[in-house]
Amino acid sequence: MGMTLKDRKVVVLTGAGISAESGVRTFRDNDGLWENHRIEDVATPEAWVRDPSLVWRFYQARRRQLLEVEPNPAHFALAGLERKCGSLVLITQNVDDLHERGGSEPVIHMHGTLRSLRCQETGLSEVRMDERDLVEDFVLCNCCAVASRMRPDIVWFGEIPLEMGVIQREVGDCEVFIVIGSSGHVYPAAGLVNLANSNGAHTILVNFELPINSNDFDEVHIGKAGEILPELVENW
Ligand code: APR
Repeated sequence: MGMTLKDRKVVVLTGAGISAESGVRTFRDNDGLWENHRIEDVATPEAWVRDPSLVWRFYQARRRQLLEVEPNPAHFALAGLERKCGSLVLITQNVDDLHERGGSEPVIHMHGTLRSLRCQETGLSEVRMDERDLVEDFVLCNCCAVASRMRPDIVWFGEIPLEMGVIQREVGDCEVFIVIGSSGHVYPAAGLVNLANSNGAHTILVNFELPINSNDFDEVHIGKAGEILPELVENW
């Protein structure tokens, strides 16, 4: 079943799967481990207190990787969809900057971004992507009189995603809700499809495999986003 998206209020939610073909590893596809740590054990406020240098090295490696990866056809296709629709809101769980570099703007990063760091004391974020910001040593802020340590500007497990008010309003109000490349394991993002459904939106899923919440969608397209999204967008 297909529908024309032109002049519709469209909200898109992306997950790690849309960046997979750019070479950014997803969380739950492979072994889900990083240096023998479960992602849940590295990406928590408790881990930052217990072993900040382990957490720091994990995120510095991912921040450096941003310089090596490029947007793929799925990112470009979404930027094309944005031009085609009357109204498109793009929400991502991804912390990379590949949507922006693919031409999408603005992007709501509900789980934070790798490009910025956040002062541990004041909570202020700064884009910090110079060479000296990407080292194994900790990085200090520019906002405090006595510089404080900066933490990754990432929403960790147990923390509240960013911009939830805007997200709930947009998803609750949209006519078409599209999820691309997400395993449906992490809430509240995974529950947004239910909000869209309860408000009568048409819901579409594009994913490499059937995720646990695939029954919640009206329309399901199975395949690699970089391979199937360009053609789907063409026909939407
Ligand atoms: N095209 C489309 N989908 C793909 C592709 C691809 N090329 N490759 C993988 N996928 C699918 C996988 O089948 C899987 O269902 O993308 C999904 C990725 O799932 P996860 O790795 O769990 O990523 P995501 O859903 O974004 O994770 C949510 O978990 O660790 C946290 O905060 C982190 O934002 C992240 C959140």
